[in-house]
Amino acid sequence: MGLFFEEDNGGKKKECQIWAIGGGKGGTGKSFLTSSMGTYLATHGNRVVLIDADLGGANLHSFLGIKRPRTSLTDFFDKKVPLSNIIVGTGIADMGLVTGDLHSLNSGSIKYTQKQKLFRQIKSLDTDFILIDLGAGSHFNTIDTFLLADRMIVVIVPEITSIENMYHFIKSVIFRKLDIALSSIGLKQFVRDIWKNRGEHGINNLRELIDYLSGVSSSTRDVLQKELSEFRIQLVLNQVRSSQDVSIGVSVRSICMKYFGLFSSYVGYVEYDDCIWNSINKRQSFMKEYSGSRCAIEIQRIADNVVQQRQLRVLRR
Ligand SMILES: Nc1ncnc2c1ncn2[C@@H]1O[C@H](COP(=O)(O)OP(=O)(O)OP(=O)(O)O)[C@@H](O)[C@H]1O
Ligand SMILES: [Mg+2]
Repeated sequence: MGLFFEEDNGGKKKECQIWAIGGGKGGTGKSFLTSSMGTYLATHGNRVVLIDADLGGANLHSFLGIKRPRTSLTDFFDKKVPLSNIIVGTGIADMGLVTGDLHSLNSGSIKYTQKQKLFRQIKSLDTDFILIDLGAGSHFNTIDTFLLADRMIVVIVPEITSIENMYHFIKSVIFRKLDIALSSIGLKQFVRDIWKNRGEHGINNLRELIDYLSGVSSSTRDVLQKELSEFRIQLVLNQVRSSQDVSIGVSVRSICMKYFGLFSSYVGYVEYDDCIWNSINKRQSFMKEYSGSRCAIEIQRIADNVVQQRQLRVLRR
């Protein structure tokens, strides 16, 4: 991603960054944040494509204040229209949208080859940023799309159910990564068996599973090191109502390390603000109508932190 920050890039094309916005639980604000961060990036000199990958409940267009586009991923899957031909305008210069579909598709019905084709075409889009809005849940297609990204963003709200769903989501992400990594050395089933009988091996969590696997042989250790050492999740806390809520992001970061052995970055929080649902109900783009609001500024800070791989500094009381 090095090219991105070069002030003078000698006319070279910026490297495209793919962001995926997920997190397991429904209604945490994934679509709102995808549309808002996209708007921020597009209004600051970047070309952006938003992809609504919530195939069961695509509604990203509503957050941009536009009508449901007539073309959607259905055209890509059913009529083989290239992805670049189903990008529609959003009313914001330099930002396009690929919409999902409400009716004919669910992520379970997509074939492996269709998914691979979609991923290839996403990666070859000529743009600066691709922001993928994922649906709720931990379906393996959702997890695979999450893993496609350069920046994997998990949106949570300060509620126990959200943290539980996030835990399940991240666990699924790590298992999928382990599957992919260890199947290359024929150990996929071995991992499953060890996890199934984890009590016998004194394994209590994924962190201990990874430690165990790393001790099996030098080749497993090398594969795990290669796949997991650079692996980072970026946490966003939405609908925050107090400073106590803000510090939940720090606790979740510690949970990720303790139970998954996973480094994560707490990139920022967004306060709860009635103007948000108000603007959505009025079919307005929040970042346009409330550009000077605290939430808009918090969203800008999150997007900057994601781009620059920085995190929030939270002072504990
Ligand atoms: N910071 C906030 N303050 C107040 N309301 C918010 C905030 N963020 C999101 N919302 C509201 O929460 C609702 C759910 O947001 P959104 O649809 O973005 O969630 P989601 O995670 O995409 O849900 P789903 O998993 O169903 O796709 C929206 O109606 C939005 O108005
Ligand atoms: Mg959504």
